[in-house]
Amino acid sequence: MNKINFDKELTLGIPLIDKQHEEYVKRMNHFLDSYHHDSINEEALREEISFIVSYAIEHFDAEEALMKHTNFPLSKQHIAQHDFFKQSADSFAELKYTEENVRKLLRLLIDWFIAHIKTQDSKLAKHVKKIQDAKTSEI
Ligand SMILES: [Fe+2]
Ligand SMILES: [Fe+2]
Repeated sequence: MNKINFDKELTLGIPLIDKQHEEYVKRMNHFLDSYHHDSINEEALREEISFIVSYAIEHFDAEEALMKHTNFPLSKQHIAQHDFFKQSADSFAELKYTEENVRKLLRLLIDWFIAHIKTQDSKLAKHVKKIQDAKTSEI
C-alpha cells in the first residue's frame, strides 16, 4: 500500500481540521513504513493501529463539537459515518493480522478515511466557512 500524500485535495481550509487530518496521515504513513519492515511483529503493529484509531476518535469528537457549535444540518449522517468507522475498527481488534485482514483494515483506515475527508468533512468545512464569512461581514 502506498503512503498517503497530504496534498491540496485533502486541505479543507479549516486550520483545526486540516492540522488533525495531517497528523492522522502522518501516523498512518508511519504505520505503512513499519508494516513494510519485515522484522516488525504483530504486537507492535497492533499498538500502532490503536494509536491511529484513538487519534481518529479524538478527531471525530472535535468535528462533532464543531458541528454542534455551528448547527451543522448534516450532522446526523456525518456522525453515523464516524460511528461506522469506530465499529469497524473495533471489529478488527478481535481478528488476527493475516495479510487479508490487514488489507481490509487498511482499506478502512486509508481509503475510507480519505473518501470521508473529501465528501463529509468537505461539506462540514464549507458550512463552517460560510458561517465565518457571515460573521466577518457583520463587523
Ligand atoms: Fe468527519
Ligand atoms: Fe475528519
